[in-house]
Amino acid sequence: MSFHIIGTGMYVPPKVVTNHDLEQLVDTNDEWIMQRVGVKQRHISENETSAEMGYKAAVSALENSNTKPEEIDMILVASVSGDTLCPSNACIIQGMLGVSCNAMDINAACSAFLYLMETAAGVFARKKAKKILVIGTERMSRILDWNDRGTCVIFGDGAGAAVLGIGDGYLDSVFHVTGGMGILDVPQPVGNSPFYTKEQYLTPFVHMKGQETFKFAVTSICSDVKELLAQNNLTIEDIAYVVPHQANKRIIDFAATKLKMPKEKFYVNIDRYGNTSAASVPIVLDEMNRKGMFKSGDLILFTAFGGGLASAASLIRWK
Ligand code: COA
Repeated sequence: MSFHIIGTGMYVPPKVVTNHDLEQLVDTNDEWIMQRVGVKQRHISENETSAEMGYKAAVSALENSNTKPEEIDMILVASVSGDTLCPSNACIIQGMLGVSCNAMDINAACSAFLYLMETAAGVFARKKAKKILVIGTERMSRILDWNDRGTCVIFGDGAGAAVLGIGDGYLDSVFHVTGGMGILDVPQPVGNSPFYTKEQYLTPFVHMKGQETFKFAVTSICSDVKELLAQNNLTIEDIAYVVPHQANKRIIDFAATKLKMPKEKFYVNIDRYGNTSAASVPIVLDEMNRKGMFKSGDLILFTAFGGGLASAASLIRWK
């Protein structure tokens, strides 16, 4: 026994920053960003932490699933942009909800929502929970170098959440990690140890080698999706929709072409939100759910990749 997704929610902060706004900050332009990335605007938090945004997405998912906070047995949260390492975002959100259940963070950068679902499936399999709240929330704007035009034009802030309830909808998943540093890194701030012999770390911002990340992304989406379909004796035609991580519109288009899959099956909202890292998959999920795109019995494929380097694909049958 695993779970069904029984409700979804999302939240983005009110401030919208357009590509034209960014032209005032760095040497860039709307045409370049639209062509290379596919982002038109992003929401940026001025005063809300990732925990506060995650809480709002969680409340929306609880309402959508008709679940009271006290019915939740566990809270799993993913974020690379929490304001504190300790307490974890999961613990902060647990406190905001006023509940007493178990709560922990899982870090798998942009693929994290799929790692949250896999972890939740293990908890359901052990019969330790009836309902689990999973949240991806990011205030990427606090870890971006706003002088680096190679990264600051790509990302955005926001949160997505889902309530998982006992069921048999989570069918299978694949995960791949090629561990190491140097391609997509967010170093922690350096402390003031008098014992350091040299400054060992980069500045605490997103450092990204764009082209290497691009190649990794397209390769991993295609191989993860093919592997997952093959091990479930399914073909592309069996899949109703793909819920893809929103890193770059070109990455999604490349992957759809390589997989010979109609682009219409891949939901895209990066134009409105940018890449919201761990929040991107649950934000897509919530938009598709609230538009009524999923029908009972539909096979939904999730695919994500990012820092780690980690990637994953998951298969769900809609309730
Ligand atoms: N605006 C205008 N020009 C820019 C720019 C910007 N924001 N950023 C870079 N450029 C310039 C570069 O300086 C370079 O100029 P040059 O040819 O005069 O040297 C030119 O555009 C091409 O740069 P390059 O880095 O080769 O572009 P690219 O086609 O690889 O696109 C990315 C850059 C970052 C959009 C692309 O590599 C990418 O999307 N990578 C994946 C990123 C990703 O998905 N990250 C998240 C993973 S979860």
